[in-house]
Amino acid sequence: AFRTAFRDRDVPSTQARRTARPAAGAPDTGFENTPDTDPAAPAARVWARDLLDRDVPVPGGAVVVSTTQEVDALVARASAALPAWAGTAPAERARALREVASSLEAARADLVATMVHETGKTVAEADPEVSEAVDFARYYADRATELADGVVPGAVHRPAGLTVVTPPWNFPVAIPVGSVLASLAAGSPVLVKPAPQAPRCGQVAMAAVRRGLDSAGAPEGILTVVLSPEGEVGRRLVTHPDVARVLLTGSLETAQLFSGWRPDLDVLAETSGKNALVITPSADVDLAVADLVRSAFGHAGQKCSAASLAILVGSAGRSDRLRRQLADAVSSLRVGPATDLGIAVGPLTEPASGKLLRALTTLDPGESWLVTPRRLDDEGRLWSPGVKYGVAPGSWFHRTECFGPVLGIMRVETLDEAIDLQNAVDFGLTGGLHSLDEAEIDHWLSRVEVGNAYVNRHITGAIVRRQPFGGWKGSTVGPGAKAGGPHYVAQLGDWWDAPDLL
Ligand code: SER
Repeated sequence: AFRTAFRDRDVPSTQARRTARPAAGAPDTGFENTPDTDPAAPAARVWARDLLDRDVPVPGGAVVVSTTQEVDALVARASAALPAWAGTAPAERARALREVASSLEAARADLVATMVHETGKTVAEADPEVSEAVDFARYYADRATELADGVVPGAVHRPAGLTVVTPPWNFPVAIPVGSVLASLAAGSPVLVKPAPQAPRCGQVAMAAVRRGLDSAGAPEGILTVVLSPEGEVGRRLVTHPDVARVLLTGSLETAQLFSGWRPDLDVLAETSGKNALVITPSADVDLAVADLVRSAFGHAGQKCSAASLAILVGSAGRSDRLRRQLADAVSSLRVGPATDLGIAVGPLTEPASGKLLRALTTLDPGESWLVTPRRLDDEGRLWSPGVKYGVAPGSWFHRTECFGPVLGIMRVETLDEAIDLQNAVDFGLTGGLHSLDEAEIDHWLSRVEVGNAYVNRHITGAIVRRQPFGGWKGSTVGPGAKAGGPHYVAQLGDWWDAPDLL
């Protein structure tokens, strides 16, 4: 695995264009490449309102399986598509992916509406997610073209074979689309099983992918959408001997479960994170607080990349200013249903339980609430965000991913102590530093053990190509090339034995 440090650079992409704010009073230019859905802008409100009122039908084409025999039949059919697709020139595969980019763009409104209604994602989060999916399609199309040119001199890229994609529910469009398209770009047919919490999102997204593939004349059978219960049937899908590879985005426990089921299974996984943002006394406090709040509470904290710890160094932790500003900012976040365009924090996709419920409702020794989380509905999906103060080194909250709207604050005297705390967790996905001191920045970058290291920026929302995304340590399983980065498609071939490229 390798690490990338990100200081903003200007690389054009659909995502980047859409994160630029529209000029005040700018007219709504329609769905394509409109810059940002700012809920406060009247034009965006009209656009988003219209989009949320859409009645998005569940597309056909997914196969529901309930027995292991049905899984075997699907695997046999998908495997039969391998020779034709593997034999399709990479430039042709790339053309198909570019068609997919267009069909995803055309489906933007349906995709956003489905995410909002099915998972509680806000429009402001769902809209850039569609852009990310579009960017994956175009970016991986370019990478497919490179395969023909020989990414590794003298090596021939051979598709790995039938690939199973098991995406998560928290990015129910961009991640399945990205994983499926990367595998297709590399010449492998795919069976994708949308997350049980977000089957509609998966189906609407895959229907758009299929429209693109069909309009490019791609062979039948290279994409199969499978809906199946967990348990024996899901296990058969992952462990079938004809499945060459599994691309998982989920918890480390799930990756370990898959490997336990079939030890020779080739699992590539993006897994958990316990991510911290360090703030030093030299930081611009206004920016640091804004980036921290966005990183911790965007999508109600349900991102593997989310900040769940803030580590305050020296006077940044001793002075009242940062604490007060943070408490004010968090308390003023509007919480409500995702269909209300004025809210910043929507409902959780599933009611809080387990680790998250513990984090939201209990304090360990030394901890106090800077902002107390409150449950706002009967179901347990709607929570106002909480900030824990005084999280102790080595404590449960310091080390545990809770995946929800809780942020913990730790205080230390030196930057090195902050980095030690940041590195003391099992994971190494994202991390942030807010500092205006170049020596501090260089020092932090030289020591922090994370895949995506962000300086003076929020730590979520990696942009395809600009910030390839992936982790270190317990946050990744497999060779570790990053999603949306230069080697991701190449690593999906079966010659990938060139670790010096990583
Ligand atoms: N790519 C997402 C982010 O950067 C996480 O999956 O937030």
